[in-house]
Amino acid sequence: MKGVVLAGGKGSRLYPLTRVTNKHLLPVYDRPMIFYPIQTLVDAGIRDIIIVTGGQNSGDFLRLLSNGKDFNLHRIHYTYQEGEGGIADALRLAEPFVEGEKICVVLGDNIIENNIIGAKEAFEKQSAGAHILLKEVEDPERFGCPEIVNGKILGIEEKPKAPKSNYAVTGIYFYDATVFEKIGKTKVSWRNELEITDVNNMYLAEKSLTHSVLDGWWTDAGTFESLLHATKLVADTGANKTPGRGPAPRHTRAAD
Ligand code: G1P
Repeated sequence: MKGVVLAGGKGSRLYPLTRVTNKHLLPVYDRPMIFYPIQTLVDAGIRDIIIVTGGQNSGDFLRLLSNGKDFNLHRIHYTYQEGEGGIADALRLAEPFVEGEKICVVLGDNIIENNIIGAKEAFEKQSAGAHILLKEVEDPERFGCPEIVNGKILGIEEKPKAPKSNYAVTGIYFYDATVFEKIGKTKVSWRNELEITDVNNMYLAEKSLTHSVLDGWWTDAGTFESLLHATKLVADTGANKTPGRGPAPRHTRAAD
């Protein structure tokens, strides 16, 4: 399985912090933000990793990460997103690198307490399709939010005004290589982006979307509140703890 870290975008919710740098280079306690999603992949045994970035500060990623020696990697791949077309648009750039393999995609501002080893191993056994990780949150309207009935996902809404559950779809996704065809079928949304939620709903329509609930805390760090929250969580409890494997995720088929 290959890994993709998405680290483009304008980070406009963090202006003026992001006026002269990329959001994913900002500090979260004692490390630049992008260190956490890379560590998440490496901890899951995924060592073939591409960073999708963009904007005026893309060269800083190379200077910061070089060949990945902070993570005991021998090399890191990089690709450049022209403009800010959203998560699905950024992911599309990873297609030549992926070469038909399964992938784990982590958004560059997503930080977790523990690890995703259980979910990764479960997805390796899943013949095809996608697997998403959910987390119960107090503000599901800020995220992709699933409607869940009897343990099955019926649909996912992006930033719903009236959320149908208390769960967020976290920015950690497992996909087979059909993800790129699906991205090709998405249309630009109200926020002028190609939405990853539309891609996930396509897998759902094919009955090939599974999900599990992430163990330990999870946060994004793309707003002032969540960046502060992430910094406190990391400072108080640490991120990417890897002792043991953690409990096996619930692995339920979304819709049969
Ligand atoms: C993105 C996704 C959303 C997901 C979230 C997780 O939101 O669109 O579905 O729940 O990441 O961090 P954005 O950060 O673009 O608002």
